[in-house]
Amino acid sequence: MGKLIIDGGNAVSGEIHVQGAKNAVLPILAATVLTPGKSVIHNCPSLRDVDKTDQVLEGLGCSVKRVKNTVTVDACNMTGCTICEELMREMRSSIVFLGAIIARQGEAVVSMPGGCPIGLRPIDLHLKALRALGIDITEEHGYIKCSAAKIRGADIHLDFPSVGATENIMLAAATADGLTSITNAAREPEITDLGNFLNAMGADIRGMGSSLITIRGADSLKGVEYTIMPDRIVAATYLAASAITGGEICLTGANPNDMNAMLHVLGEMGAKIQCDTDKIYQLSPKRLKSVHTIKTMPYPGFPTDIQSPFMALATVADGTSVFIENIFENRFQHVDELVRMGADIKVTGRSAVVRGVEALSGANVVARELRGGAALVVAALAANGRTVINGTEFIDRGYEHIERCLRQCGANIRRE
Ligand code: EPZ
Repeated sequence: MGKLIIDGGNAVSGEIHVQGAKNAVLPILAATVLTPGKSVIHNCPSLRDVDKTDQVLEGLGCSVKRVKNTVTVDACNMTGCTICEELMREMRSSIVFLGAIIARQGEAVVSMPGGCPIGLRPIDLHLKALRALGIDITEEHGYIKCSAAKIRGADIHLDFPSVGATENIMLAAATADGLTSITNAAREPEITDLGNFLNAMGADIRGMGSSLITIRGADSLKGVEYTIMPDRIVAATYLAASAITGGEICLTGANPNDMNAMLHVLGEMGAKIQCDTDKIYQLSPKRLKSVHTIKTMPYPGFPTDIQSPFMALATVADGTSVFIENIFENRFQHVDELVRMGADIKVTGRSAVVRGVEALSGANVVARELRGGAALVVAALAANGRTVINGTEFIDRGYEHIERCLRQCGANIRRE
C-alpha cells in the first residue's frame, strides 16, 4: 500500500487548476463505443479509474491512446461484448458500459459488479430500466447476460434518481427505435456532460439537469472531439484543504455553478468566497464555524461525495455539526480514523454528531475508500505533527497528483 506523509500546520494557499471530472469521463468513455468512429476527449484526468476504463475499452477491441490529458478512443474495430470479472470487481462503475455495449453489439456479458466499501451498490434500477427498453437479461453464475436485436424506446420511471441508471438508459436509448423518457432522472452535472457529449455525436437528448429527460433514438452516431467538465468534488476538496488550514486559494478551470450546495456550506462555516465564470477565490476564517446539520441528497442537494472531506472540516470547527448520510449505507468509515487523530465524532446509524475540538493530532491512519481517504488528507493538513496515510491507491482513483497540487500551495506532503 502506498503512503502519504503529511506534516500539518502549513496554510494551503495559492492556485490550483481543477482536473476533469472523473464521474463525467467514465460514462463518456463508455459512450465512445456507440459508433465505429474515433473520439478525442480533452481534460481527461490521469486517474486509476480512468486507466481501468481504458482497459475495459481495450478488452472490447477498441484502441485507446493518451497524450497528457487527451485520450483518443478508436472504436472502429470493436469486437467484444464482455467485461471480465476482475475489471468489474475492481471498478464497479463499469456497469455503465452495459447499455452502450448492447446498443452497439446487440449483446453484452458482464460480471455482477458487487458491492464496495461504501455500500451494497445494487443495480436493480439499471436492469429494470434496460428490460423496459426491450433488452432480454438473465442473471446466472454471477454474470449478467443481455441481448436485444433492437432496443426499443420506452417510458421509464426511476424509483430513485440513480446517476448510473440514468446514464445507462441514455447510452442504451441514444440509438434506439423511437422515443424514451426518463422520469425522476438524476440531475447531476455529470449527466448533462454525458448528454452534451452524446448530442455532439448526433444524438437527440433533452432535459438533462432536470428530472425529465427525453431521448429520441438516432439512426447513427459519429466520433467527436470533446472537453470534459471540471471535477466539482475535487474542487470542493481543495477548498476544504485551504479552509481547514486558514489559507487563501484560487481555483482555476472550475465551474462554481455546479457547486452551490458546497459553496453555501463553506460560507456558513465562515469562508469568504468570490466566483468568476471559471474561477473560485476563497479566504478562510481563523477558525471555522460549525454547521447545524448537513444532509446528503441527490443533486442539487449536498453531494454525498464531499460528506467526508467536509466532516474533516467540522472536526476542528467551533461548535457541533450533524451529518446525515442519506445516499449510501456505509459511508462513515473515515470516522474511526479521524477519531484516532483526536476528533470527537459519535455515529448512530446514518447520523454522525461532530463536536469541534481545538486541534487534531497527527497519527498513522488508513484510507479505506476514495473520499474517506481525501478526508484524511484534509484533516492531516491541519493536524499538529505528522500523519501517515496508508492506502493511497484509493485516493488516486479520483485525485490527480494530489500531493503535487497541495505541495505547490505550501502543504508539507510527500508520497512514499
Ligand atoms: C455515482 O455512483 C458516482 N459514481 C458516485 O461517486 C456518487 O456518490 C453517486 O453517483 C451519487 O451521486 C460515478 O459516477 C462513477 P447512484 P452511482 O446510482 O451511479 C442506490 C465517487 O466517490 N441504487 O446514484 O453508483 C445506491 O445503492 C463515487 O466518485 C439502487 O438502489 O450512484 C445508492 O444508495 C462514489 N439501485 C443510491 O441509489 C440501483 O440500481 C445512489 O446510487 C442503483 C443505485
